[in-house]
Amino acid sequence: MRTQVGIVGAGPAGLLLSHLLAGHGIESVVLESRSRGYVEQRVRAGVLEHNTIELLREAGVGKRMDAEGMVHEGIELRFGGQGHRIPMTELTGRTIMVYGQQEIVKDLIRARLDAGGQVLFDAEVTGVDGLDTDRPVIRYGDGRTLECDVVAGCDGFWGVTRQAIPDGVLTVAERVYPFGWLGILAEVAPSTDELIYAAHDRGFMLHSMRSPTLTRLYLQVAPDEDIGHWPDERIWEELDQRVATDEGFDLAHGPIVEKAVTPMRSFVAEPMSYGRLYLAGDAAHIVPPTGAKGMNLAINDVRVLTEALAAWYGSGDRELLEAYSGTCLRRVWRCTHFSWWMTAMLHRFPDEGEGGFDRRLQLAQLEYVTTSKAAATSLAENYVGLERV
Ligand code: FAD
Ligand code: DHB
Repeated sequence: MRTQVGIVGAGPAGLLLSHLLAGHGIESVVLESRSRGYVEQRVRAGVLEHNTIELLREAGVGKRMDAEGMVHEGIELRFGGQGHRIPMTELTGRTIMVYGQQEIVKDLIRARLDAGGQVLFDAEVTGVDGLDTDRPVIRYGDGRTLECDVVAGCDGFWGVTRQAIPDGVLTVAERVYPFGWLGILAEVAPSTDELIYAAHDRGFMLHSMRSPTLTRLYLQVAPDEDIGHWPDERIWEELDQRVATDEGFDLAHGPIVEKAVTPMRSFVAEPMSYGRLYLAGDAAHIVPPTGAKGMNLAINDVRVLTEALAAWYGSGDRELLEAYSGTCLRRVWRCTHFSWWMTAMLHRFPDEGEGGFDRRLQLAQLEYVTTSKAAATSLAENYVGLERV
């Protein structure tokens, strides 16, 4: 088989890239190791920043998002028994949307298939050859091949495309955090209108949502936490304690329909390209989820890549393709810093220094960010998403 752009991975990055390229008349094939049902049900991100919302609308895949997504104008930081609102829209003029990643994935798969696009499920990529030639070849399934002009590595952190880059080419910057998130989805109405990020003495918790009848909650746990040690009652007990305020807060409980533990890391591989391979999204960089940036970064990468490929196919101009990695990495590092900063401010760390030094710094930072308009604006402009570059 042959195509113009061979895309590995049908996550938000790979699917949106295929959709955007089609808008420029560029052909692609998406190869995905999992089944369609699996990728459509995988519960992950939920917060779309301003640029992501605009891009999905411009690309004609924002209709269901606009009908079902929940527009938010602020978030709450909760600590010391009190809630403190960050009025994001008042401070920045921008809003965010809560709309599940798997809903975007469903919308994009439908859009590609309706347009006659090729998305092959249960098609695991095993390797990529000839990246330093102008005819790279992707190997997948039982001995099948896809020949293309360009390979887009959108196969997430554990994928194979980054591994196909020869040793010594990439510089990797990494931080592994000493905790993870236990995430649940519960069939119960959210207990709050806006997201609550709670920095409790027992550890971090986050109250998010997916719809008027579905609540998404996260608890800081050990990175290698055994989910078997967390029966539903224990999860609710811990959430109740961490979300509590001095005035009292009623967290509505309901049947838990999904639970999983995710370890947390920051990771950036540079450059994001090698020969005819361009990495996008989690394949090139990972942020801890605290700032809700991972999927938004993945979506920005493929926006930049689409413009670069459109220029190259249109006029043979390679300038944007050559600038691809540098252009993306400026935003990646800004978001890497923001996500690290949010994570460091909100979680309990095993070693907090003498007299709880680091914990005292966290509380001082939380006080500052919730009382200074300048500090709150800085958080808000990063959270809603900085201007496109
Ligand atoms: P992925 O979604 O990982 O997609 C990669 C695809 O490649 C997968 O479908 C995989 O099956 C496929 N694949 C892998 N290997 C192969 C292979 N060999 N052959 C073929 N296919 C392959 N981000 C936000 O922006 N906001 C949030 O609120 C947020 N919250 C999060 C909460 C949690 C608990 C987690 C875990 C993540 C969160 N993120 C959030 C991060 C976000 O989910 C990721 O950044 C996003 O999924 C990246 O998209 P992607 O397309 O790059 O990669
Ligand atoms: C969600 C996830 C996040 O990482 C975050 O910061 C906010 C919300 C969510 O899944 O809803």
